[in-house]
Amino acid sequence: MKLAIVIMAGGKGTRLKSKRAKVLHEIGGKPLLRHVIDSAHQIVPPSDIYVVVGHQAANVEAAVKDTGVRFVQQEEQRGTGHAIQTAQRAVEEYDQLLVLSGDVPLLKPETIAQLRDFHIEQQAAMTILTAAPQDPTGYGRVLRKKPDSPEVKAIIEQKALTPEQQSLQEINSGIYAFENEPLFAHIGALKTDNAHGEYYLTDMAALLVSAGERVVAIEAANPVEVLGANTIAEMMELDRELRLDTARGLMAKGVTILRPETTVIDSTVEVGPDTIIEPFVQLLGETKIGEDCRIRSYSVIENSNLGDGVLVRVACVIGGASIGAGSLIGPFAHIRPESDIREGAHVGNFVETKKVKLGKGSKANHLTYLGDADIGTGVNIGAGTITCNYDGVDKHRTLIGDGVFVGSNSTLVAPITVGEGSYIAAGSSITEDVPPNALALGRARQATKPDWAKTRRARISKT
Ligand code: UD1
Ligand code: CA
Repeated sequence: MKLAIVIMAGGKGTRLKSKRAKVLHEIGGKPLLRHVIDSAHQIVPPSDIYVVVGHQAANVEAAVKDTGVRFVQQEEQRGTGHAIQTAQRAVEEYDQLLVLSGDVPLLKPETIAQLRDFHIEQQAAMTILTAAPQDPTGYGRVLRKKPDSPEVKAIIEQKALTPEQQSLQEINSGIYAFENEPLFAHIGALKTDNAHGEYYLTDMAALLVSAGERVVAIEAANPVEVLGANTIAEMMELDRELRLDTARGLMAKGVTILRPETTVIDSTVEVGPDTIIEPFVQLLGETKIGEDCRIRSYSVIENSNLGDGVLVRVACVIGGASIGAGSLIGPFAHIRPESDIREGAHVGNFVETKKVKLGKGSKANHLTYLGDADIGTGVNIGAGTITCNYDGVDKHRTLIGDGVFVGSNSTLVAPITVGEGSYIAAGSSITEDVPPNALALGRARQATKPDWAKTRRARISKT
C-alpha cells in the first residue's frame, strides 16, 4: 500500500482580512502550515507529502521549502474538491491518500495514524475525521446513516443545513482518508451548485455513497485538535492552547511559571529547573534559559542564551544575545544582537548593548550605550558612558582592557583602545588611545571664581 499525504493550503483565507496568506499566519511562533507539515512528517517521508498551493503560492512555498515537501500548483482556487482534482496527476501512483488542511494546525500525528488505521480496518473508500465540539457553528456536519453506525450518508456544509439539521453536533474536520481509485473515478462528478459556487471535497461523501462505496467516520478523541483557524480570533484561541501546553511542559520539568496564561512562550524554548518566570514574560525562538534564573515581568527574550542563576529584572528586551551565569540584567535594559555578557556581569537600567563583549564581573549599571566594543573583566563603566561607534559612515570598535574604570558621563570616540587598569576621568571625551594604568582626562579644566555669586547678587540689587 502506497500512502501519500495531501495538504490543502491554496485558499485565500478571506475571513482573515489579512494581506498575508492564511497558512502563513503563526500560532505558537510557527506558521499554521508548518505545524501541519511537521505532524504529516511523522507519518510519511516529506517526498510523499504534497502541499496544494495557490493564493500567494511563492510566499507559501518559500516559507516551508526547507521541509522537503512537494508542491502542487492550484492556479485558480475553486474549492477543496478542486484542490484535490489539481493534485490528481501528482498522486495518481499512490493507493491511498490522507487529506489534511493547512488551517487545522493542532492535529497530532497519533490522530492521523488512527484515521489511517480505522480507514484500512473499515475497508472504506472514504473515511472522515470528525469531532463533537461544544459549538459546531461554521463547520460542515456529518450525517451518519444511523447515529451509532460508522457509515456516513453525506457531509452538509453549514450554509446548506436544513432547520432540522441545525442540531447535528458532529462536525467534519476537513481531514480525510481516501482510496485513490474510487476517489479519482468519481471526483470529476463534483458540481458547483452551492453557496460559494465551488467544488466541495465534502460532496465526495454523498457521491461515493451513491456509487455504492463505503464512507465512514471516526470521531477524534480530543476536539481541540481538529479546530480550524479561519479568523484571527480562532487562531489566537489555538495559539493560547498551544502555549499553555508548552508552559505545562516546562512546569512539568521544574520551571515555575506564575500566571502561565499571561506568558507567550514558543515551543522551541528551553528552560532549566528552578527558574521562575513572572507574569507577562515572552520567551521566543531558539531561547535557552538555565537553572535558578528569575525572569521578571514584561521582559521579552528572543533567540538568546542565558546561563544559570541569571536575574533579568522588569522590562528588559534581550535578542540574539548570550548572558553568562549569575549576571544581573535590567530593569529596562536593551541587550541587542551579538551581545556577549559574561559571568556575573551587571547591565543596569537604561543600558543598551550591541555587538559587545562585557567581561566577567564587569558592570555598566546606568544610562549607557555600549556598541561594537570588547570590554575586559572587572571593568566599571560609569553612568552615562557612551561608546561613539559611528562616524556617520562606518562603525568602529572600542577596546577596553581588564580593570579599567570609566568615570561617569564619558564618551569614548572609536576606534579607540583603553589599556588595562587605566582610569578615565568623569566627563571626558576620549579621542586618543590610553596606555595601561594611566589616567586620561579629556575635558576643560574647572575654573572657580571666588565670591562671584555674592558680587553678582549685590550688583542686581542696586539696579
Ligand atoms: C472546510 C470544509 C468543512 C469543514 C472545515 C473544517 C469544505 C467545502 N468544507 O470548510 O466541511 O468543516 O473545512 O475546517 O471543504 N483550499 C485550497 N484550495 C481551494 C480552497 C481551499 O487549497 O480552492 C484549502 C484552504 O487553504 C484551507 C483548506 O483548503 O487550508 C480548507 O478550506 P477552507 O476554505 O478553510 O474550508 P472551510 O470553509 O473551513
Ligand atoms: Ca478552514
